[in-house]
Amino acid sequence: MKRLDDIKKEFPIFERTINGKPLVYLDNASTTQKPRGVISALSDFYSLHNANIHRGIHALSEEATERYEQTRKTVARFINAEVPEEIVFTRNCTESINLVARTWGEMHIGRGDEIIVSALEHHANLVPWQVLCMQKKAKLLVIPLTSEHELDMAAYEKLLSKKTRMVCVTAQSNVLGVCPDLKDLIKKAHARKALVLVDGAQSVGHRRTNVQALDCDFFAFSAHKMLGPTGVGVLFGKYELLEDMPPFLVGGDMVTTVEQYRSFYREVPWRFEAGTPNIADVAAFRSAIEFLDEVGLDSIEAHDRELWQAAFTMLAANPRVRVLVSDACSATSVLPFVIEGVHPHDIATIFDSEGVAIRSGLHCAEPLHRRLCVPATARMSFYLYNTFQDIEMAEKALKKIFKIFSLTP
Ligand SMILES: Cc1ncc(COP(=O)(O)O)c(C=O)c1O
Repeated sequence: MKRLDDIKKEFPIFERTINGKPLVYLDNASTTQKPRGVISALSDFYSLHNANIHRGIHALSEEATERYEQTRKTVARFINAEVPEEIVFTRNCTESINLVARTWGEMHIGRGDEIIVSALEHHANLVPWQVLCMQKKAKLLVIPLTSEHELDMAAYEKLLSKKTRMVCVTAQSNVLGVCPDLKDLIKKAHARKALVLVDGAQSVGHRRTNVQALDCDFFAFSAHKMLGPTGVGVLFGKYELLEDMPPFLVGGDMVTTVEQYRSFYREVPWRFEAGTPNIADVAAFRSAIEFLDEVGLDSIEAHDRELWQAAFTMLAANPRVRVLVSDACSATSVLPFVIEGVHPHDIATIFDSEGVAIRSGLHCAEPLHRRLCVPATARMSFYLYNTFQDIEMAEKALKKIFKIFSLTP
């Protein structure tokens, strides 16, 4: 097992400085840093095993195929999919969701049907459903939030009807950090014969995921938010659903036979992986999952919560700072705040001058910001390599803001 207290050493990026200060990285909800093992897995692939997959007879091609397919098995185990064939590799979480909207949606959505999204959604789990509903003359309904910024489950139950075909919901908000009660939500959707797609981008690298226990129909995420490389996304789909779906992109590698005027498609999941995929990054993604396993998702979740609570306490001690969630809600890992009279971009710029990377803006969740009645937010987000010292550095940056803007703390 890896111990969290000296894990930073395994991430070479923390050897560098930003603006002359040691890097404090609190922008993990955007993307995470990469451990040395993932970086060397990528370099090893290109140095020793590089070839195209699935179609070669030679040894290198077999090695490359083996590495690519091994990651599929590792991902399946990591989220407890029943079989590796339920794992489709895409470019990112956004593409995984588009795949479902464009294939399953094309087949199953018609005029008057209803799709439910939540008010928490990232644009990635909103825009594809807006487009589908517009094209099919279907209706998009939105689950509102309670005053505590949790999903309003009573309102959700009222939205569900015979017309509901799909419910699309995040496992964790990338703005507020809140985590909906997915089990309950999925059970209620299934009782109405609606399917559920879960956007797991923010949750899957932070706490255990068990797609069979959840009983979700689709689960989408990106490797880069869980220590893995960019350019790799995952779509989990229940086998019988994937099997029933037409291909997304078409061309080489997803076909069994091609005649001049028609083609026959491969079985799932390869039917959804047209062309040469991101072989090296998929292969290196396995190292990221193995790293997470060695630390343990339960330790990561507990560590996230401790850091979140410490950062919350630090921010909430300043009357000038408004944290957008309370510490009684389900939020973890992600902490949004605003400072009266200071634009979030100025907050992030001053944090950066102290070597502390945080995110500011709308975080690809514009409708949610409108509901919260804030033009933008500053956001700290934590991961396994962050420490209590990082929060002390954030506090130092906060004091600098008060000084520059002549605010009495
Ligand atoms: C909740 C959520 N869903 C989806 C995405 C999209 O991920 P990607 O840009 O890797 O497709 C993000 C990215 O921030 C996210 O936070």
